[in-house]
Amino acid sequence: MSANPFLYQDRTLFCENVALADIASRAGTPTYVYSASAILANYRAYDDGFGALPHTVCYAVKANSNLSILRLLAQAGAGFDIVSGGELFRVLQAGGDPAKIVFSGVGKTAGEIDDALKAGILAFNCESEPELALIDALAHRRGLKARIALRVNPDVEAHTHHYISTGKLAHKFGIDIAEALAVYQRARQFSSLLLEGVSCHIGSQLMDSGPVMEAVDRVLELIVTLREKGFDIQHADLGGGLGVAYKPEDATPSIAAFIARLKDRVQNQNLRVLVEPGRSIVGGAGVLLTKTLYRKTSGEKEFVIVDAAMNDLIRPALYQAYHDILPLRQSSAPMIQADVVGPVCETGDFLAKDRTMQEAFPGDLLAISTAGAYGFVQASNYNTRPRPAEVLVQGSEWKVVRDRESYHDLIRGEA
Ligand code: LLP
Repeated sequence: MSANPFLYQDRTLFCENVALADIASRAGTPTYVYSASAILANYRAYDDGFGALPHTVCYAVKANSNLSILRLLAQAGAGFDIVSGGELFRVLQAGGDPAKIVFSGVGKTAGEIDDALKAGILAFNCESEPELALIDALAHRRGLKARIALRVNPDVEAHTHHYISTGKLAHKFGIDIAEALAVYQRARQFSSLLLEGVSCHIGSQLMDSGPVMEAVDRVLELIVTLREKGFDIQHADLGGGLGVAYKPEDATPSIAAFIARLKDRVQNQNLRVLVEPGRSIVGGAGVLLTKTLYRKTSGEKEFVIVDAAMNDLIRPALYQAYHDILPLRQSSAPMIQADVVGPVCETGDFLAKDRTMQEAFPGDLLAISTAGAYGFVQASNYNTRPRPAEVLVQGSEWKVVRDRESYHDLIRGEA
């Protein structure tokens, strides 16, 4: 299986062995389409990369939480990184092993913590002392010991979009690594906590693994110190963050090379290593199919108006993200320069700006590339638009793994 499952055959864009136009004609548009083989190949690149080193690859559910994708990964042996009670519920519904779940996030509620204790998760990645106190109290009430890793903030610059950089002290995440030893020591008072791990995560869409390695070195140094002080540290959770190429001219960082670099640092440390990748597993494995509705010009500007919008894929509007746009059918139509925009009533509703692309006419189908991560999960019903359908392809087979929302879905629960 090629790393990129979206390739042209006879000028027709396929996902694995299925023509995307067939999916569009039967499932409608806008529709997210994911390649199961690509998702599994990316997961295995992580898992195989670690080889015999004790490890758990905890897929970051936030990147794409469709049940069928979670089930696919659970069956392949993946663990999961969750950030809410809702994600815990999804993972358990999909058959995920609670003993491979880590729970991250700065604002876990008592209810969410209690659900995770009941499920018997692998570890809480704790981000503050009040959170430690709450987990201790809830675990005590259940007569359990909660496994804890403090999420430390290594104060490393991740060089990514400022909204998704998390490893500097000015960010809300983690506990200042310089304070960590003192916090571990104070946490000794909590008799229902097992202080077993250290975790960190410095940001997302990292195209260079250098900053992660810097963070890892700081975490390993801390682990040495903690062990010297008598803490029985068993695991290091080194977070997620490896990026994917959004522009055709960029190369997607190699998962194997990234893990090889990590492994170099962490082997012989008598540690279980956890990672929390999201985007690098699902990002390149998905596209958003959309149909051209209208063309118009305004002064010098060309617009291609499509049926997908910022409510379906908010990344261009929110992070100035670039997503390549491919015609489902390559033709001899001339190239144009246009803004690709949706029907939502905001100037911020665009999928591409000043994009050089094959001329698209009303009815023409397009694939918005690299939309498998942080696509559907960030979709909303803004402008009372039903969220798209989701389709999973494997080989020559495909199925709808989430129905397009109906108008009735949109008003459910309203008085
Ligand atoms: N672990 C933690 C604690 C995280 O906060 C994140 C992502 C991950 C793992 C997974 O990172 P990944 O491997 O996917 O880079 N919505 C944004 C991305 C937000 C990332 C948030 N945290 C986007 O569309 O670019």
